[in-house]
Amino acid sequence: MKPATCLISAVAMAMALAVSEPTSAQSDGVASRGAAYAENNCARCHGTGPGDKFSPMPGLAPFRIIANTPGMTATAIAVWLRTPHKDMPNLVIEADDRADLIAYIVSLRDPGNSK
Ligand code: HEC
Repeated sequence: MKPATCLISAVAMAMALAVSEPTSAQSDGVASRGAAYAENNCARCHGTGPGDKFSPMPGLAPFRIIANTPGMTATAIAVWLRTPHKDMPNLVIEADDRADLIAYIVSLRDPGNSK
């Protein structure tokens, strides 16, 4: 299983590097496309809209809360979307869609929240 592990960390590293520059994180993804993708792929569990305070799945953070969680930077979201989590189906997200999603989630931050 070593090659697979290496591949995953290499991809995580590449993503981290790709989004570590603030301008590239903003310009690579298109928030409006991310919103549509979230609506289609994430909304049955997460509240994905800018005004959603709750998620369809009880107790689960809606995207606006995720976006405002300290430490949830574009990089952290990128890494999160590459790693499997229990109860979250192993979503296969294309790189373009992932960039759009990140742009969208980051756009949900409250004004003045720099985290
Ligand atoms: C089948 C239900 C389901 C779907 C669909 C789903 N999620 Fe999740 N998501 C979860 C659950 C459950 C958790 C908490 C799991 C955990 O912490 O391991 C979670 C956690 C997260 C977190 C971390 C939140 C935090 O506060 O740490 C992010 C980011 C996330 N999801 C993004 C997405 C995105 C983006 C999509 C759509 C591409 C998506 N999820 C689709 C169930 C889902």
